[in-house]
Formats: sequence, C-alpha cells, structure tokens
Amino acid sequence: MSEDAQELWSGLGLIGPLEARLSGPLPARVGGVSIDTRTLAPGDLFVAIRGDTHDGHDYVKAAFDKGAAAAVIEERRADDLRGAGPLYVVRDALRALEGLGMAARARSAARIVAVTGSVGKTSTKETLRTVFAAFGPTHASVASYNNHWGVPLTLARLPRAAEFGVFEIGMNHPGEITPLVAMVKPHLAVVTAIAPVHLEHMGSLEAIVDAKAEIFSGVARGGAAVIPRDAPLFERLAEAAARSPIGHVVSFGEHEQADARLESCTPDGEGSLIHARILGQPIVYRLGAPGRHMAVNSLAVLVAARATGCPLSEAAAALAQAKPAKGRGARETLTVEGAPATLIDEAYNANPASMRAALALLGDTTPGAGGRRIAAIGDMLELGPDGAQMHAELAEALEAAQVDLLFAAGPLSRHLFDAAPEEMRAQWAASAAELEAPLAAALRGGDVVMIKGSNGSRMGPIVAALQRRFGAAAQGEG
Ligand SMILES: Nc1ncnc2c1ncn2[C@@H]1O[C@H](COP(=O)(O)OP(=O)(O)OP(=O)(O)O)[C@@H](O)[C@H]1O
Ligand SMILES: [Mg+2]
Repeated sequence: MSEDAQELWSGLGLIGPLEARLSGPLPARVGGVSIDTRTLAPGDLFVAIRGDTHDGHDYVKAAFDKGAAAAVIEERRADDLRGAGPLYVVRDALRALEGLGMAARARSAARIVAVTGSVGKTSTKETLRTVFAAFGPTHASVASYNNHWGVPLTLARLPRAAEFGVFEIGMNHPGEITPLVAMVKPHLAVVTAIAPVHLEHMGSLEAIVDAKAEIFSGVARGGAAVIPRDAPLFERLAEAAARSPIGHVVSFGEHEQADARLESCTPDGEGSLIHARILGQPIVYRLGAPGRHMAVNSLAVLVAARATGCPLSEAAAALAQAKPAKGRGARETLTVEGAPATLIDEAYNANPASMRAALALLGDTTPGAGGRRIAAIGDMLELGPDGAQMHAELAEALEAAQVDLLFAAGPLSRHLFDAAPEEMRAQWAASAAELEAPLAAALRGGDVVMIKGSNGSRMGPIVAALQRRFGAAAQGEG
C-alpha cells in the first residue's frame, strides 16, 4: 500500500465483520478490497471467492506477491495456506464478504442509490456518478458489478468519507434482487427500464416486472422510488412500489403522465440538448452522451439527484460531463482512406430494447460526404423461443433509422438479414469473426458504422479490429 493510501479498514476492525479467526500477523490496515489478482492493488484485502471456473484460494500466493495486505480464506484451505501472509480464516468467504459489505453500509452516512432495470443500469449508474461527483465524494460500482459478489464487493469498498453511493443491482432469476437490496439498504431505488431480457429464465414480462419490483423491498422507510413511465406493464410496477413501505414514487419518461417528462431531445453531435419538465419545473440542459434513451435515463438521474438533496439546476449542469461508456455508444473517429468515418461501439450487449435505441442513435447520426449508415449486428442472446422473430422484427427499426447497409453475424441475425430490404443486405456470416474482413473492406470515408450484439456474440473483437486498422493509433504508426 502506498504511503498516502487511505485506510478503508483497520486490521483489527476486519475481524468482527468477517467473523474470522486470524492466522499469521495482523495487518495494520487495508486500503481496498479485491477478489481478482489481475486488478488487485498493493495494500488490498484479497477475498478468496470460489467462482464458476476458478477458486480464489489458488491465487492467494499471487495476491501476496502483488502486495496484498491480507487475505480472507476458508477453513478448508487454512492448513496449506498457513504462513502465506496475514490470513483471516472464515467458513465461507462469500458470506464474509457480505458481512464486510453490511458493516460498511452500517457505518456509512452516504446517501445511497440502487439502480436496477432490464437495460441502462450501468449507463445510469455512471451518469449518477458523474452528477453526484459534482456535489461530494462519490462511490459507485465498477463496471456492471451487480450480482451476488459484485454488490457485496462494492459495498465492502464504500469509503467512510463517501457522501454518495451508487450501486448497480442485476438479476437473471426471480428472487435475486431481494437479498442484494437488503444489503445495500438504499434511500432511493431507480428502475431504469423494463424489457424482455433474460426471457429464457424469466418466462414472461409480468415475471420480469415482479422481479425488478423486488428492489422496493430494501428501500429505507420514507425513501423514494424512481420508475420508468414508458415501461410495458407500468401499472404493475407502480402498484408494487405503492404496496412497499416507500413513501414517494416518481415516474420518468416520454409519457404525458410522467412526473419527470422528456419534452424534446435534439442531437448535437456528441450529445443532446434536452428540454424537460421535472415535477412541473421546466428545465433545459445539455447531456454529454447521445441518444434518446440516454436522454430518458438522464431524467431518472435528475429525479434521483433532486431527491437526495442536490439542487436541480446544478445537477442538470453536471450532465454535460456525462459520456457514453465503452461498448455502450462510445464514439470514435476512424480514418478510412484519408477521410473521417465514425465508429459507434455498442458491442457490450444487446437485447431488443437496447438494439432499437442504438439503431435510433445511428439514425440520428448524419454520415459525412459520400458516407452511409452501416449497422453491423450480432445475435441477441437469451431471448427464449421467440428469439428468431424478435430479430426479424428489427427490420422496421433498420428502415426507420435509414440504414444503408446491414452486416449481420450469427444464426439468429440471419432472420433479421432475411427480413431486411434487398438493397440493405450487404453481408451475413455465420460468426462475428467471419464478418470482420468483409465489413472492413466495405468501409469508406464518411460512413457511420454502429456495431452491436450480445457480449457472447463476440462483436467486440470487430470493434477492436477496426480500431487497430483505422483508429488513431493506426494513423500514428503510419
Ligand atoms: N433506457 C434505455 N433503453 C434502451 N437501451 C438503453 C437504455 N439505456 C441504455 N441502453 C443501452 O443498453 C445497452 C446496455 O446498457 P447498460 O450497460 O447501461 O445496461 P445494463 O442494464 O447495465 O446491462 P447489464 O445487465 O449487462 O449490466 C447499451 O447499448 C446502452 O446504450
Ligand atoms: Mg450493467
């Protein structure tokens, strides 16, 4: 740990929350908490969690080599790891991490927001981080750390001095949100959107709404809920919020009856100029991230900021600093045969809702001279038995976005390719890897190319390949 590293936990203070016995020396203090030696920083507490493929106990020695201050290990491995360094020995390392997370929550005076929803959790969480950071020290989840280990890990890292905490909470199955939100105990719950995601596990849209509504169960009495007015089955969600102990429910969206309502959203290059009405109060602001979906998300952010005591006008001003994240609409200028082209990286994930949003974004982007709108689309996974049809139905969105060329990869996207107008169909390939060369060969200066698919469809490597070939780094080499 570097000299000036802040103390997150004292060595002694860890024993109680972890319910551990000590083996070896007591560390003076730890500066952070890690479950992955690849990202561990010197001075961190390494918690040896057992995942699907790896057991953290096999990395305890590596953790100490990288400068871990101490490790949390399970009794079953206490003998063979004895002497490796300061060890907190527990029965179950994940339970111990939860204990630490709950202790961090209990000692925190921060205003806490939990974010769930079918899409837009990370985008909204990052926008909340940007806004809250303008008002005080803010702690938020890394990436999408939203599951049974990501949530307690993020809690365990909550610094004493944080004034705001933003936690992403996700789920693939009913019942998963309840225990997570019980740990987070937010003052405010945000549901970003409801969409047919993980339908394979969830069965129906009703089941999805009910699962998201679990988030209300953990909100402190007198807290607030921020819910999407445009969601299918909105009434069901609103009723669930009303049945919970939450005192205050605010809706946001484009719907006439939304409490926070988007009145207009005009693209201005990298972002949008937004006119909105937040609980009756008209407001105009600039959002640094493009897309109507991001504009809608920003309403939830403003409501949350206002409900946690941040003045609305200052919160809105901070939204100019918001940026789309990698894989979620981040833009980059490529150079193709000496002329600029635009790459929109949406490769992080995809479902019908986010695909429509991304296509709308492509439609809002005007190509340069001689350029075309190009959509490169990989399969949307985990959609259940209607997956093929949900792909084919996107043909309309392609037309609405005035897409000139469609490149598609994967068996499900084949259904979209076949449903698309003849003149739009550029190339279909069985896999993303096979789509890379034809797409790269087709690119011209002036083009806008948007790349999107579920993470498992491997569209990300296409983005990386185009960046290597046409990105700033490639130009520098020349
Ligand atoms: N309100 C929205 N409606 C539709 N699409 C959205 C919305 N907000 C964000 N998106 C898009 O959805 C995709 C996923 O966004 P994001 O990573 O924020 O979602 P997430 O809910 O955190 O996903 P995950 O469940 O994988 O953690 C991105 O392409 C993003 O641009
Ligand atoms: Mg996420």
